[in-house]
Amino acid sequence: MEASGAVTARVEDFSLMDPQVQSRPYDFYALLHEHEPVYRMPETGMYVVTRYADVRAVLQDCETFSNDVELGFGVNGAGYQMYQDVLDQRGWRHVQTLQRTDPPRHGRYRKLLDQVFNVLRVQQLTPHIEEVANDLIDGFIDQGECEFVSAFALPLPGIIIAEQLGLNRNEIATFKAWCDAIISPASVAMSEAELRATAEVELEMQHFLAAQFEDRRRNPGPDLISGLVNAAVEGEEPLSMHELQSLMEQLIAGGYDTTISALANGLWLLLRHPEQMAKLRADPALLKGFVEESLRYESPVQGLVRRATRPVEIAGVTIPKDAIVMVRYAAANRDPAKFACPHQFDIERSNAAAHMAFGVGTHFCVGRLLAKQELMTGFSILLARLGEIELARPVLDPPHHPSLIVHGMRELHIRFSGRSAAA
Ligand code: HEM
Repeated sequence: MEASGAVTARVEDFSLMDPQVQSRPYDFYALLHEHEPVYRMPETGMYVVTRYADVRAVLQDCETFSNDVELGFGVNGAGYQMYQDVLDQRGWRHVQTLQRTDPPRHGRYRKLLDQVFNVLRVQQLTPHIEEVANDLIDGFIDQGECEFVSAFALPLPGIIIAEQLGLNRNEIATFKAWCDAIISPASVAMSEAELRATAEVELEMQHFLAAQFEDRRRNPGPDLISGLVNAAVEGEEPLSMHELQSLMEQLIAGGYDTTISALANGLWLLLRHPEQMAKLRADPALLKGFVEESLRYESPVQGLVRRATRPVEIAGVTIPKDAIVMVRYAAANRDPAKFACPHQFDIERSNAAAHMAFGVGTHFCVGRLLAKQELMTGFSILLARLGEIELARPVLDPPHHPSLIVHGMRELHIRFSGRSAAA
């Protein structure tokens, strides 16, 4: 999981499609930083950019590096076209909105969402996040142990995002299946049968959401779905059903797996670094630093893609027009040129907040304030209520789900010695 520091392997010994490498990519990133900072993935033809300065430059240049790209084609080729056809026949094929658009079109969607995920809204939501976190801990604290991903990391953001969207908080298992279906065709190479089965799950979600949109058109409430279906920006058409489906898909996928990953990896980091956990328990003012450092160290979104709109050179490599460029946030966050001793986990690191786990520039994460609040509140309550925490079982090998994009832990069994003295 940590980079070993002494890397003797060669770039060609690794594959970013290998689940072991996806789970423990840091030796590979270190090699790429040194030898191939712009690395052409032989399996997909994508150009992977890994150095901090290069990733930042790509993210800030929307003209040369367009977001109008479908990663599904990069990973699943013709199979993705078939996937889109299935959606087209019985639901709504994916269209490009928000994260998959460039300015000025991007602004049409972004201004609607910025109204919802703002500082005030997150502040108002914080007591409720506390209540949900406490309820979840009530559910397992007396057992002295739990599987942390399913008992806490998954339901905390699941309930919050479901409620924000005006959906039923008791159906988070369904949300998780939807979220997986949305992300998989873009992040895992799949057989035709797998793609067809996944399309069925997405179709179920689309029809559920379509009924919700209809309902909120007639009975608007204070929730985000009502806001989106009834949004009227002067001089513009209302959002179409295809656009609404696309926005919801991005909110469910963007807001759920990412935060689950941050919670689970965050706790696992503390378990691997007990001295840092002790420091954090002794001084809760370090919480913010811990959250930033864990996002830097085990970035939940390892990378996303852009399309080169013209031939462009980065670090001596010419990227051809229309090539897919993968910006590897997680690698940039371990770049020694930006972060001293990058493979050291240090909750007191002075520049941890300079990480790019939420991206940078035009597409800077719309839900970052909400995500950070969920992490701050979640960890503050966990550490206040649970006594000494330790691993109850060795983590699986590899510890993370196979994915080119999201760094999600498969499971994390913990035990704790009883209630914290502070509780
Ligand atoms: C720890 C949790 C999270 C991480 C690590 C994360 C990461 C990211 C990253 C890297 C981007 C940039 C995409 C790009 O460069 O093209 C992004 C954008 C986005 N995120 Fe998040 N995110 C998190 C939580 C959330 C939450 C809670 C929501 C919503 C409820 C959300 C919704 C979105 C949306 C809609 C975008 C697209 C914004 C745009 O294109 O203007 N994310 N996120």
